Amino acid sequence: MSAALVEIRGLSVHARTEAGEAHILRGLDLTIGRGRILGIVGESGSGKSTLASCLLRLLPANISRVEGSIVMDGTDLLRLGPAAMAEWRGRRIAAIFQDPMTALNPLFTVGTHLVDVLRRRFPDLSRGAALARAEAMLETVGIPDPPSRLDAYPHQLSGGMRQRVVIAMALSVQPDLLLADEPTTALDATIEAQIVDLLGRIRRDFAGSMAFISHHLGLVAELCDDLCVMYGGLVVESGPTEAVLARPRHPYTRALLDCEISEGDTGRLVTIPGEVPPVTADVEGCIFATRCPHVAPACLAGQPPLASVGPERRAACVRSFEILP
Ligand SMILES: Nc1ncnc2c1ncn2[C@@H]1O[C@H](COP(=O)(O)OP(=O)(O)OP(=O)(O)O)[C@@H](O)[C@H]1O
Ligand SMILES: [Mg+2]
Repeated sequence: MSAALVEIRGLSVHARTEAGEAHILRGLDLTIGRGRILGIVGESGSGKSTLASCLLRLLPANISRVEGSIVMDGTDLLRLGPAAMAEWRGRRIAAIFQDPMTALNPLFTVGTHLVDVLRRRFPDLSRGAALARAEAMLETVGIPDPPSRLDAYPHQLSGGMRQRVVIAMALSVQPDLLLADEPTTALDATIEAQIVDLLGRIRRDFAGSMAFISHHLGLVAELCDDLCVMYGGLVVESGPTEAVLARPRHPYTRALLDCEISEGDTGRLVTIPGEVPPVTADVEGCIFATRCPHVAPACLAGQPPLASVGPERRAACVRSFEILP
């Protein structure tokens, strides 16, 4: 991996809930390489969206504590004041979510959305120049007949087209980091594949890094240079996608892959027996111990740190080489 754009160390997020204190992230370490696409996978509840919210510093009100660091280009985002962070969100980090309507106002046309984003980001841009650039952005994201689409309202577009508009808005700010949290989950499989294909293609003109969160290991394998596997609020394995998938070094990654294979060509993750520990649970040993077929006394001593298990590869398992030769 080239130099890091983002280095997250020991990220813990706690929340107040009726059932007690929730440990949503439990000391997570993660690196996003410069100019790389990082895939983040893990079952529902593993903390993927919370991680994205931390990067954007848009956390729900009941979050009681955030610890650790998120260093991007030498700045710890967790230590920025609200105004400085808003500035980073508008310029350096852009995000796409599952539902494109979260980013679109039904009362405004596609053109208005794009021109607004462009002129906020580049205040010297004239309205005419912004419109021309908006048209070019629609072309880039594969929207047919851009001039007429500029006048369309969000409801006049299909879900896939709306997500393309949101991607165009995100790219318009020329961010250093594009965060995509399940951007294709609400779309049908064909459209999903087209959007992933688009994200792969735009990287030629996009100098930044991308973090692509998904349940869908097959898509991640296609799109992402690097892979990070989350479980129970932690990263349990990370490394170059091909190497991780060819030879997983954490039993959870192995289990995810086995599910994928047993699911055949649908490529969806099926469930692994058992459940992610509840966020309110205090976990003493390895976070995966309750579901791991290889659990041994050594696993219960404490959460194993993410340790080097090969070139640019890390895994959080004390038995890695014993059980996954
Ligand atoms: N504000 C909150 N207060 C209490 N618990 C929360 C809060 N936000 C998230 N959680 C819990 O933390 C865990 C992780 O949630 P998160 O949404 O980050 O997971 P995810 O990996 O994105 O899941 P999915 O794949 O379903 O989107 C879940 O158990 C969730 O219920
Ligand atoms: Mg989520």
